[in-house]
Amino acid sequence: MTTEVQTNKMIVIDGVDGSGKGVQSRRLLQSLQDAGLQAILTREPGGSSAAEDIRGLLVTGEPEKWDSMTELLLMYAARRSHLRDTVWPALATGKWVISDRYADSSRAFQGIAGNLGLDTVEQIHRVTVGEFEPALVLILDLPESIALQRAHDRGGDEDRFEKKGADYHARVRDAFLQVAATDPARYHVIEADRSMDQVSQAIIEVVNQHFDLRLQANREIV
Ligand code: TYD
Repeated sequence: MTTEVQTNKMIVIDGVDGSGKGVQSRRLLQSLQDAGLQAILTREPGGSSAAEDIRGLLVTGEPEKWDSMTELLLMYAARRSHLRDTVWPALATGKWVISDRYADSSRAFQGIAGNLGLDTVEQIHRVTVGEFEPALVLILDLPESIALQRAHDRGGDEDRFEKKGADYHARVRDAFLQVAATDPARYHVIEADRSMDQVSQAIIEVVNQHFDLRLQANREIV
């Protein structure tokens, strides 16, 4: 059962690890707020107190700690909590929601790169989430070798997925493009192998066109 969502103003930014989603999500939030709009920024896995607990299990440790199916179930447990506690209440009060990753990461990482198949992901999606889909999904695309180097340079201990190797991440990149091609009205692929400012500008143009807004790109947040 979903909370009543009046108007769907959820924008997802997704893509390979190290694609610059974090900065671009923060910049998009700022652009919305600068225009006087009420907006929140959230993320997956995580985005609610309980889902952040599950995140800790997922992103640390060795790659083989969970198989793809267990990962998928944990991702969807976290996603359901995130939707119930954070996303749906915000949408119900008319706020914009920007999410750094959402269900297309499960389709790409577990479904395609992790070999479970998209049908399996869709079955779990239907029973845990139902019909709800974000209004717009932006896929930041760049060669996985550049993206992985960026993710590696960032450091930290949330590197369980990075350690799955270059082949896995090449499949993740292809998978995002494959998923995006299924619904060109809702998915936009943004070329991310260029400057942060150019990527921000490209994102703002897509958002402005999709929602008929006049937002300005933010160039301050890094
Ligand atoms: P994230 O914090 O976005 O990583 P990064 O900032 O390095 O891009 O996500 C953590 C990892 O979780 C990331 O490697 C992708 C993975 N993931 C999945 O495999 N399936 C999912 O459904 C989600 C939401 C994330």
